[in-house]
Amino acid sequence: MELSKLIQEMMNEPSPIRQIMKMASRQNIINMGLNPDEVISYGGGWVGHHPPEQLRQEYGNICNDIEKFHDAGKYSPTLGFEECREAIAKMEKELFGVKLGIENIIIGQSSTQLTHDLLVALANPDDKILLFDPTYANYPGQIKMTLRNAKIVRQRVLDTEGWEYKSEEEMAEDFKEIYEKEKPKIVLFPSPDNPSSQVFGDTFVKTIADMCHDGKSFMIVDYAYKTQCFISPPKYFSWNPSDYPFMIALHSNSKWGRGLGRRLGWVDASEEIIEAMERVQQCTILCPDTMHQFAFASYINKSLADGSLKKYLEEVRNAYKKAADATIEAIDEFLGLPRLIPQGGLYTLMKVNEDADEFVKRVLKNTGVLFIPGKGFGDSLKEAVRISYGPHVENIGVIKEGFKRVADYLKK
Ligand SMILES: Cc1ncc(COP(=O)(O)O)c(C=O)c1O
Repeated sequence: MELSKLIQEMMNEPSPIRQIMKMASRQNIINMGLNPDEVISYGGGWVGHHPPEQLRQEYGNICNDIEKFHDAGKYSPTLGFEECREAIAKMEKELFGVKLGIENIIIGQSSTQLTHDLLVALANPDDKILLFDPTYANYPGQIKMTLRNAKIVRQRVLDTEGWEYKSEEEMAEDFKEIYEKEKPKIVLFPSPDNPSSQVFGDTFVKTIADMCHDGKSFMIVDYAYKTQCFISPPKYFSWNPSDYPFMIALHSNSKWGRGLGRRLGWVDASEEIIEAMERVQQCTILCPDTMHQFAFASYINKSLADGSLKKYLEEVRNAYKKAADATIEAIDEFLGLPRLIPQGGLYTLMKVNEDADEFVKRVLKNTGVLFIPGKGFGDSLKEAVRISYGPHVENIGVIKEGFKRVADYLKK
């Protein structure tokens, strides 16, 4: 059997995150002589809080009514239903002050699929794509899959000596230099970030937006964690596509409402980009899921009207902030290793001062505690691990226990 050259190459470069998650599978844990029920994992890049109860009821309303359930089985328009795009526009306006018309919105299956489609819509295989180092580990594979040999240019944003993000001014200067030299077609980054949980500041992002505007490049901001921002939100969270026609905002239902397995994503951007995305999406997914759009639109309209959406989001944000604080306290108390203070999202990065692949394997085998080795996020994290508190948000007590176990082992 001869598979495509592309996939053969990609299978030879498996994701380091998937590899370590496989190593921590139940059977492998048993093979290591450990009890899988005692494993404490800081590996999961997902959220552990409950979805809004009213959203669950919206699904119930559809499922309990023969005609509504029948209707939810029809195809959606490729752009998504107008009612759902209107609800999203209303939500972005009320939560962040973004002004959108439905012509600025396309709904997709997830932000993973929409990223794929954006790369197809915006770049050619001989273009360059600028990513930060570190950044979300799935981007390089997605770029390779859509754009084959497009060159990935990396900008270091982490000072690995001082173990903190560079100042905004320094990042802006670095960006200008790299942009002038490489002329990337797309600049793509999450904020709040995965894996660092840092929120990029206005000075830096304005520099990126202005340079992209003048040089006719696209800036894609991945807002997977937008509602889980612990610091006061930067101004660009409120920018409109009419002000920045080269900016694309990428959104997902996965993280804020615990919709990981029930997901929808959407993009807001200029009408021209949305029209291009419609054409791509016709060929990738044809249309987004109808049932999720029905439940989501109805929930958003009601929960905006009665104020419960804002309340829910505030509670969720506070819960993750508490989990973040508990994580940092435990690292400081038990390990005393350099770490980043999360500004939003689900993670921190801890410097382990040795090859992190080896460190993670050793710690897992000896303690049953799982970290994610940093390499998959960029070279700056070869000696660091990503620690996720996301899955433990409703059980914060467990966070401390894992670090205590690791400290006891490292002392030996
Ligand atoms: C930065 C970032 N973007 C996108 C995704 C995936 O989003 P979705 O579930 O909408 O595909 C994740 C998931 O961890 C993420 O961390």
